[in-house]
Order: sequence, then structure tokens, then C-alpha cells
Amino acid sequence: MLYKTLLRPLLFLRDPEKAHDQTLSLISSLSFLEAPLEWLFAVKDARLEVRVGPLTLPNPVGLAAGFDKNAIAVKTWPGFGFGFIEIGAVTAHPQPGQPRPRLFRLPKDEALINRLGFNNDGAEAIAAKLEALSAGERKRIPVGINIGRSKVVETKDAAADYLFTFEKLFPFGDFFTVNVSSPNTPGLRDLQEKSLLRDLLQAIQDKNREMAGKSKTQEKPIWVKIAPDMDFSQVDDIIDVAQSEKVAGIIATNATAFLREKLVTPTHEPGGLSGKPLKALATSFIRYIYQATRGRLPIIGVGGIFTAEDAYEKIQAGASAVQILTGFVYEGPCAVKRINRGLLRLMDRDGFKNISEAVGTTT
Ligand SMILES: Cc1cc2nc3c(=O)[nH]c(=O)nc-3n(C[C@H](O)[C@H](O)[C@H](O)COP(=O)(O)O)c2cc1C
Repeated sequence: MLYKTLLRPLLFLRDPEKAHDQTLSLISSLSFLEAPLEWLFAVKDARLEVRVGPLTLPNPVGLAAGFDKNAIAVKTWPGFGFGFIEIGAVTAHPQPGQPRPRLFRLPKDEALINRLGFNNDGAEAIAAKLEALSAGERKRIPVGINIGRSKVVETKDAAADYLFTFEKLFPFGDFFTVNVSSPNTPGLRDLQEKSLLRDLLQAIQDKNREMAGKSKTQEKPIWVKIAPDMDFSQVDDIIDVAQSEKVAGIIATNATAFLREKLVTPTHEPGGLSGKPLKALATSFIRYIYQATRGRLPIIGVGGIFTAEDAYEKIQAGASAVQILTGFVYEGPCAVKRINRGLLRLMDRDGFKNISEAVGTTT
């Protein structure tokens, strides 16, 4: 309540990107309050524990990629109750992103439009930052790393660029997301095309085996994140490749480049639209993938989740776990706690003893 009535109005007076950067540094500076934060915000209940491939998540609510691109607050995120986080997108080259302004709030639509364009410190700097954390500080919840293509690299040379980042960050990620779906890097989404995606994933899985062999560890789970701006025949192609290349999960979905006509606030700002207007579209992708794979390929559902009901809808449509970003901006620090508590209530109502029993139950 305090967030929505007091803090959010103050934050929303500021430029969206400045407000975001300040919030992130504040969150990062709270890492020494680990125990009190967890006491305030984390819901610990074995019924929320889920497995996604080889990973065990203490609860199914994760932080979506793009909020903590440079791994600034890795130590603090568990304190806000997340079951897993995804940092990045990280690119091989450090890059400034697009000119500002490039992040816009649409409060009446409970949405954001961003065209940040993968602004980040680059793979080497982010690897050094993660290396400086102790294993214990990194490992409290699974940490995923979202990999994007550097802007200066052409699509035909994309594989080498992804591999550079993957290799640098290999020791520090519990899973890796191959991001071929952000709308703000020209040509990136071409990598969703069947043969290009197959080549890219093959190269990453080869490197995965090589790195696991060298470091005598397990191969890392590779997830693929897709856009909601394609028809389902293209989703079929992606599923085909994902299965043949032993992808551990599909994240559905990234922000949409379209849907502007449905907004209460008229705007033609280019970029990815996220939040409430994306909710139903993202869920339709989850439902489709779940049905097409008969539940055999784990799905991470993301897009417009604000409440427990929103998360439950995605889980029942087929998501094994979910992620939030825009919902965290609008709902504030209690968002994850409310969602997890609400999930327990909805599970009780429907007689599920573990959240995974609810997966796909409305498909
Ligand atoms: C400011 C902002 C930055 C984002 N950056 C990334 C990114 O770097 N990589 C990525 O895969 N998705 C990125 N996304 C997309 C989100 O991870 C998520 O897929 C999308 O916003 C839908 O979820 P939401 O409605 O909960 O925000 C970004 C979204 C926003 C709003």
C-alpha cells in the first residue's frame, strides 16, 4: 500500500530511466539487510517449490531479464522473495544502447514501452562482477544469464558473438537464455527463423559440452526466449528446433512491437510494449506451446503478470514458472510476496498440493 500511495507517485514524477537506475542502486545497497528483507518479503513454503529441468526453484516467481542488466543487485534479489532471477541482456561488446529517451511509462495502461537496445557493460565486465561475489552470495537462488547479440555484429556472425558471452559467463550462470526476441536490436528477431536458430543453438550446445568437459561440471540448461509477434506456424518451427537441440525451456514471451491500437494512452513510440496489454497475448503463446509439446518442454511464462491470479492463469495455461518485470515496477517490493501467497490460496481452493500440479490444467 505504502508503495502505491506514496513511493510510486514520487518515483513516477521522475524520468523513467533515472527512476529505474536509482531504484536499482537502492536495491543493491540493501544487500546487507538480507535477513530482514527475507523476513518481510519472502514466502517460504515447500508447496511452491518447482523443478524446471535440472533446476529447483524455491518458488515459481522470477525476475525477468532487463531489470538488472549489469548484475548490480544479485545479492539482494532473494530478499524480495524471488525464486530465481535473470540478469542481462549481456552482449559480448559493452554498448550504450539507443539514444534517450528510450523508456516510457503508460500508467493508464499499466504498461511500459522500452527501446533501450541492450545497454550493458559487456560480457567481460559483468563476468568480473559476478566473479567477485562469493559462491554463497551467488547461489541463494538460481541465477540465469540472458545473452543478446551485440549491435555492431551482423546476423551472419551472431553465433561467435553469443559464444563469446556464453564462454565468459559460463561459470556464473545456473541457466542461460538465448535471447532472439528483443525488438530493439535490428535483425535480432531474424534468428528465430528455423535454420538460423538451429545453427545458433547447435553452436551454443557444442560450446556447452566443451565448457562442461573442461570444468568437469554439468552442462548448463539453455532456455530460448521468443517474441509474441509471430504466427503459430513459426512457433512450431521453434519448438522443433528447441526439442532437437535439447533446449531446457522456452521463455514466452518478450515484449511486443505491436498492440498499440489497444492502448488507452495513444502512442506511436517504437519499442517493446510490456505489462497488462501483453498479458493475454503472452498467455496464448504459453497455451499453444504446452498443447503442441503435450507439456514435454518446460515453459517460463512472462508478460503482464501483476497478481497471483495472473501468475496462476499462466501456470494453468502451461507455464512451469513465471517471471515479472513491469508488474514489479507498478506493484512494488511486495509484488512477489503477494503473488506467492495468492498462489498458495488458489492452490488450496483447487486442491493442488504442489504448484507443479496446476501446470497446464486449463489446456
Ligand atoms: C525496461 C525493460 C527492459 C527489458 N530488457 C530485456 C532484456 O534485456 N532481455 C530480455 O530478454 N527481455 C527484456 N525485457 C523484456 C522482459 O524481460 C519481459 O519479457 C517483458 O517485459 C514482458 O514481461 P512484463 O510484462 O512482466 O514486463 C525488458 C523489458 C523492459 C520493460
